[in-house]
Amino acid sequence: MSHLLIVDDDANSARMLATVLEAEGFSATVVGSLREARQHLMLMPVRAIFLDLFLPDGRGLELLNDPQLVGEAEFVLITGHASLDTSIQALRLGAVDYLTKPLNVEHLKRVLGRLHGSGNVRSEISQMSAMVHSKGGFSGLIGRSAPMRRVYDQTARVAPTAVNVLLVGESGTGKEVVAQTIHHLSRRRDRPFLAVNCGAISPQLIESELFGHEKGSFTGATRQHRGYFERAHNGTLFLDEVTEMPVDLQVKLLRVLETGQFIRVGSEEPIETDVRIVAATNRNPLEAVRQGKLREDLYYRLDVFEVQLPPLRARLDDIDLLAPEFLTSINQADGVPRSFTPAALDALKHYHWPGNVRELRNVVHRAAIMAEQPEIDTIELPATHAVHRVAASDAQRDVLSIPLGSSIADAERLLILATLERFDGARERAAESLGISLKTLYNRLREYGQLSVSPDR
Ligand SMILES: Nc1ncnc2c1ncn2[C@@H]1O[C@H](COP(=O)(O)OP(=O)(O)OP(=O)(O)O)[C@@H](O)[C@H]1O
Ligand SMILES: [Mg+2]
Repeated sequence: MSHLLIVDDDANSARMLATVLEAEGFSATVVGSLREARQHLMLMPVRAIFLDLFLPDGRGLELLNDPQLVGEAEFVLITGHASLDTSIQALRLGAVDYLTKPLNVEHLKRVLGRLHGSGNVRSEISQMSAMVHSKGGFSGLIGRSAPMRRVYDQTARVAPTAVNVLLVGESGTGKEVVAQTIHHLSRRRDRPFLAVNCGAISPQLIESELFGHEKGSFTGATRQHRGYFERAHNGTLFLDEVTEMPVDLQVKLLRVLETGQFIRVGSEEPIETDVRIVAATNRNPLEAVRQGKLREDLYYRLDVFEVQLPPLRARLDDIDLLAPEFLTSINQADGVPRSFTPAALDALKHYHWPGNVRELRNVVHRAAIMAEQPEIDTIELPATHAVHRVAASDAQRDVLSIPLGSSIADAERLLILATLERFDGARERAAESLGISLKTLYNRLREYGQLSVSPDR
């Protein structure tokens, strides 16, 4: 269905919009008030609604509050004043994009191009959301814990809009997976998704990597180069570790986000770009702003919508889904039907996972390689991470750090394993130092999946 509704009381502007829409292969009805819009929607569902912000009988945004009436129609806001606040508010409410008056025909055509393609993203998302509980995940993301469901909900809301997203979370929590999911659930899905690790490109090269350069613009620029912004046109650009970008370049990035134009290094010709930015950081962004690592104005541009990825230790129950899933994909690759015993899964849930899901995947991989039988009962956990040496007065001391937020059981487990390691696996000495009986030590180790059948090995 490609019928569109234009709700605008400015008859001239509405007629002009209708002309462009029709030239692009849509049919369109023009109405001048909220009341007429509602009447029309009751008679006939539409593919998208182009909505003026201010109408004689109310604010255009009011229509968005009536999901029954609107059905699966997309919203495109039309605004006379390009106020960022209203546009952002509109996008947060679910509009796919906004146009400013006077209409920029190129921009309009891009919006229409996205309406043509990709089927109905929204209905796909609502089906996926409904299946989170039964499937234990959402798109490529696994987990049904409350914090993950919040992530799915936010992802589902923001993906189909044009809003920039900031992903905040520790290393290995899935920021890149979420960025890809956002792209995949947007109308840009048939266009490129490009990821740039701002921390991994040398400060000298990052400008030309992002914006491209002309031949001869600097030593070594032997030919023209198209940067990420050019190649990601109409798609999504994932700016990973955005706080690591040099501050002077952050100024240039901000300008691109404000004007929709960039300039290749060595050129003066602005080039139009339509790129959606998903940025990520494993720092606290406000702290990065305070420390002068992230410009405040850029932060507000990127952080239109923030998604916080929970650390794995805050959702240990999801390990019941994650670990077997990782094991299954390893099994498929090498054709061995391995599985975890409940004890092994339990052991995985008694660790604080400083490296989050990535670390879990590595531990599962290692367990699969080490397994002598298809039933994996014992898990080797990386206890060493938590232990480090400090020079305290005259002696070197081993120190165990336990993250706040750990349970007593976690802390006990870490202390036991680290002590054992400190005594090179000598259990009697470890038990003595811990002040517990050897029997208790064995019991604990068995609980942790660190001990298989025979206690004397
Ligand atoms: N919820 C999840 N479900 C399934 N796999 C996940 C999930 N979260 C992360 N992963 C997997 O864990 C690994 C790390 O994820 P990802 O690279 O997205 O982390 P990140 O937050 O970008 O980390 P970094 O800050 O170190 O770049 C990947 O292999 C990813 O597929
Ligand atoms: Mg990453």
